[in-house]
Amino acid sequence: MTIIAIDGPAAAGKGTLARRLAAELGFDYLDTGLIYRAVGMKLARAGLDPADVALAERAAQDLSPTDLAATDLRIDEAAQAASKVASIPGVRAALLDFQRRFASTPPGGKGAVLDGRDIGTVVCPEAGVKLFVTASVEKRAERRLKELQEKGLGAIYGTVLADMRERDERDTNRAVAPLVPAQDAAVLDTSDLDADQAFAAALEIIRSKR
Ligand code: DC
Repeated sequence: MTIIAIDGPAAAGKGTLARRLAAELGFDYLDTGLIYRAVGMKLARAGLDPADVALAERAAQDLSPTDLAATDLRIDEAAQAASKVASIPGVRAALLDFQRRFASTPPGGKGAVLDGRDIGTVVCPEAGVKLFVTASVEKRAERRLKELQEKGLGAIYGTVLADMRERDERDTNRAVAPLVPAQDAAVLDTSDLDADQAFAAALEIIRSKR
């Protein structure tokens, strides 16, 4: 099975890129951040603390596909809750099987593109192609701000930047499966690339590896 692992920090353009690559290659796509968001929001919505280890582990073990269809998983509260549950080892362990099953037996049977933080290092270390998609924190905050403004949500650059730094810090410094490029990953810095240029560069890397 061909597996393409795409990792990197928040708002680096992984999702857009992964979705486009999957469509181009006829592969199935799994946004693994959504799984962590679903677990975090199950707790947050119930007024519970996403950092509570026992509760978060139970929510991860009980996660069902319908939880992934919740409509509020894109909001910032979900991102922060996700980043909290994601630092709990028992949560990560509970979600590993689901991700590996998708990668080894994707619904379409042709191949799988997974994006996240630890796909190339932990979830699918055997992936044939590993991309680490990144950009400067300032550029990522700018993109996030634009996204929020396009949705008609008021946001301030300084706050978005601070939130981004806080999440980077938590994702990079956690003890289990921290955000780090796999040794055999190709690093793609999108700071000065638009979506089309990033897509072209990624396709080039994939073609050179397959
Ligand atoms: O990619 P995202 O913004 O939807 O991810 C939300 C949070 O989930 C992110 O802060 C870190 C965590 N996450 C993770 O730890 N491992 C993954 N494979 C995907 C996401």
